[in-house]
Amino acid sequence: MSSTPKARSIGILTAGGDCPGLNAAIRGVAKAAMHYGIKVIGIQDGFRGLVENRVVPLDDRAVSGILTHGGTELGSSRDKPHKMPMGGKIMDMTEVAVSNMARLKIDCLVCLGGNGTQKNALHLHKVGGVNVMTLPKTIDNDVAETDLTFGFDSAMAIATQAIDRLHTTATSHHRIIVCEIMGHSAGWLALGAGIAGGADVILIPEIPYDLESVAHFLIDRRQHGKRFSIIAVAEGACSIEEASKLAIAKKKKAKAKAAGDSAPKTTADGMRLVQEPMASRIARQLQQLTGVEARVTSLGHVQRGGEPTPFDRLLCTRLGTAAGMLLAKGQYNVMVALKGDECVPVPLENVAGRKKTVPPDHPWVKTARLVSTCLGV
Ligand code: F6P
Repeated sequence: MSSTPKARSIGILTAGGDCPGLNAAIRGVAKAAMHYGIKVIGIQDGFRGLVENRVVPLDDRAVSGILTHGGTELGSSRDKPHKMPMGGKIMDMTEVAVSNMARLKIDCLVCLGGNGTQKNALHLHKVGGVNVMTLPKTIDNDVAETDLTFGFDSAMAIATQAIDRLHTTATSHHRIIVCEIMGHSAGWLALGAGIAGGADVILIPEIPYDLESVAHFLIDRRQHGKRFSIIAVAEGACSIEEASKLAIAKKKKAKAKAAGDSAPKTTADGMRLVQEPMASRIARQLQQLTGVEARVTSLGHVQRGGEPTPFDRLLCTRLGTAAGMLLAKGQYNVMVALKGDECVPVPLENVAGRKKTVPPDHPWVKTARLVSTCLGV
């Protein structure tokens, strides 16, 4: 954490997957910064816009009326400054990003994003020597050092409403419905929405499941007169067997990465590969094991769309304005986190590269078990 003279001019960018609340956070940072006499520049499409020099002035007019808007007015991308697809090649564009910041006279780059963004911002600070500040954004709620990320509450409301709706149709047809919820390595969203929506089974990456146990649970429910079941499954949920294979594969991948030989997750143009819903496989297997008709609903990007909830609007405004106050004090290289009821700066160094997954003994896990929810084992 460093404290230098107050910022005179800042740049704001939004990076990684979008979520409801980004515009509320942009507005919060910009309005508070302007309140302290700081000039605000908007950078389009995340770190790519910084490299390509695509900026817009963010004055009071530009950030008025966006509090309730979904998505991000600035646009987003998953590009990393140090590994950016440029004309078919992956290039280190750190120097360009840094010199563009200098040219624009940006004293601090405020980055709104999830885990990837925290790492990219720290990279720009450490390698490029520039001042950065971050805000924790992601529907996954998996950023370290903050009680909550913004976007999570809105996505949880959408997923909960989907589970509510699935209940009525599953009841009518006496079916099993498997509902896939976003979250590759963290199950906060599936767990939170699963509890709030009363899912009968919740499967998350942190608790590998045994499908036979799940099938027994479903058959038992049926024998007790409950002829439908809702299963909330996180994108990254895996069976006990898959979890041990994954652990081996992860080690191999880490070795390959260290040797500069890792398999690409994206196409040559930097596009992520299209994924099939994994819930289909679970539904198919459960139909076979239980003899009960099963269906699948994958919520996908619906969870990232639309307006932020009042809770997220408040959280974004609080985090954003707290960022503005810190910028006015010249406190940089921190993430503004929610701790209890306070918005506080935490050193970015303590955040980047760490993921907050669901501890298997977390109170939400206990809560789920106490309302007889099956967690897969
Ligand atoms: O990180 C947020 C998130 O929505 C994850 O839950 C999900 O796995 C991923 O982004 C999807 O990314 P994309 O929008 O790039 O397909």
